[in-house]
Amino acid sequence: MGASTASYGLLNIMIITLIGFRGSGKSSVGPLLAEELNMTFVDTDQQIEKETEQSIADIFAEQGEEYFRKVEAETLQTICQKENQVVATGGGAVLNLQTQLLIQQNGPVIWLQADAETTLKRIQKDQAAGAIRPALTDLDFQQEVVTLLEQRKPIYRDLSDIQIDTVDATPEQIVEHVLPLIEMSDWGSS
Ligand code: S3P
Repeated sequence: MGASTASYGLLNIMIITLIGFRGSGKSSVGPLLAEELNMTFVDTDQQIEKETEQSIADIFAEQGEEYFRKVEAETLQTICQKENQVVATGGGAVLNLQTQLLIQQNGPVIWLQADAETTLKRIQKDQAAGAIRPALTDLDFQQEVVTLLEQRKPIYRDLSDIQIDTVDATPEQIVEHVLPLIEMSDWGSS
C-alpha cells in the first residue's frame, strides 16, 4: 500500500518539483512519487504541448528557445496555483529566473542526477523509441549533452534541496530513497 501524505507528515508541502537534465528520470520517477504521496503528477512539457497544441520541437523550431522559456515559466506559474502536486520540469526550465523563484517557493526541489555517459545512453534509448527532442545548440549530440550538463549542474545544485544519484537505480528505488529525505528536509513537518 502506498504511503499517504499524512504518514509522511508532509504538511508543509504544496508542490514537489523534480529538476534535472534530459534523461534524468523525471517523467518515470514523478508519477510513482506522486502515487506514493497521494499527489497529482504534472509534467510541464506535456502541459505546454496541451495548452499550445504544438509539440515542444515545433515551438523550438518556429518560435525559438527564448519564447519557449517564457511559455514554460507561465505554464509553471499556472500549475503552481494548485497544491499537492509532483511537478516534472523540462531540463532547461531552471535557466529562467522566474521559474527558479517559483520552484523554490512551494516545496522541496529534487535534483535527479546522472553522469554524462548514462544521460547519453538514456537519451539515445528514448530517441530509438521515438522521442523527439529539439537540438539546443549547434554542437553535435554528444558534445551538447556534455557541455550543457556541465553548464547546468551548478544551477541544479543551487536550486535543489535534495540530490539523488539515479545511475543504476530503478524509479522505484529512487522513490524509496527520496521519501525519507523529503520528510527530513526543511519542508517536512516534524
Ligand atoms: C529541454 C528539455 C526538455 C524540453 C525541451 C528543452 C532542455 O525536457 O523541455 O526540449 O533545455 O534541456 P526534458 O528534460 O523532459 O527532456
